[in-house]
Amino acid sequence: MATTIAVLSQKGGTGKTTTVRTLADVLRRVGLDVLAVDLDPQGNLSDYFDVPADADPTIADVLSGRVRAADAIHNGTIPANLGLAEAELVLGGKMGREMTLRRALRDVGRRHDVILIDCPPALGLLTVNAVVAADHALISTEAQYFSLQGVEQALEIIELAKENLHPDLEWLGVVLNIADLRTIHSREALAQLRERFGEAVFESVVRQSIRYAESAERGVSILDYRPDLGEDYLALAAEVLDRIGMEEETGRVGELRAELVPA
Ligand SMILES: Nc1ncnc2c1ncn2[C@@H]1O[C@H](COP(=O)(O)OP(=O)(O)O)[C@@H](O)[C@H]1O
Ligand SMILES: [Mg+2]
Repeated sequence: MATTIAVLSQKGGTGKTTTVRTLADVLRRVGLDVLAVDLDPQGNLSDYFDVPADADPTIADVLSGRVRAADAIHNGTIPANLGLAEAELVLGGKMGREMTLRRALRDVGRRHDVILIDCPPALGLLTVNAVVAADHALISTEAQYFSLQGVEQALEIIELAKENLHPDLEWLGVVLNIADLRTIHSREALAQLRERFGEAVFESVVRQSIRYAESAERGVSILDYRPDLGEDYLALAAEVLDRIGMEEETGRVGELRAELVPA
């Protein structure tokens, strides 16, 4: 069965979609079969993976029970569009509404090694569905003064899901994203996170760079566009694989790094 990881945060602009996109990229390059699930009505992840805007069916159809997850996969992605906002409203009135994605993904779990879920920029019903469907929850946070609060709130959702719906859910950790560690501001945010959450904070920090916007615009992975920056995600992927117990693949990330980033 696939290992499922949900990437969440309490707001938008914390690098969730870029994290899902780039982790998927690294994991695929080390030989894993990765299914990416877009759970944000903005559909950014779907764009990243070149799923046409009018792709049909989407995750909204899966959540409403109209189609099976396996039939909504385009380019290794179950896409989303604005129709998901409506599907979320309808879902809110149903029995077992928090378990819907978990049930829907059961039939595709056997066909993939890893499923990565990109959450919307809020801690509502869709994000609850994502963590309940996941084995592991990964929090992404920007390096800001308020980031600690945001992480606490995301963690609360994970704890609530664990207590009430999904006792086996594990918190994978929190990654400091879009960080400019040359500024005191970012270094303080990191220090605060480490003080509060200790080892749960990933060693790898994703540095801030305008190259991410450029690479997104050109539809090129940061791994190819600027491997020297992509290195942050190689390090993060290695930590993630290690934390989920995929040792062999952790080693393969090292080989990939040697290929991509000349010494
Ligand atoms: N490490 C980074 N440095 C600078 N900009 C980034 C970085 N990662 C992502 N971005 C940009 O920041 C914006 C928000 O990132 P995104 O991954 O879409 O966040 P979210 O999914 O949490 O809203 C996007 O325009 C993206 O290109
Ligand atoms: Mg996003």
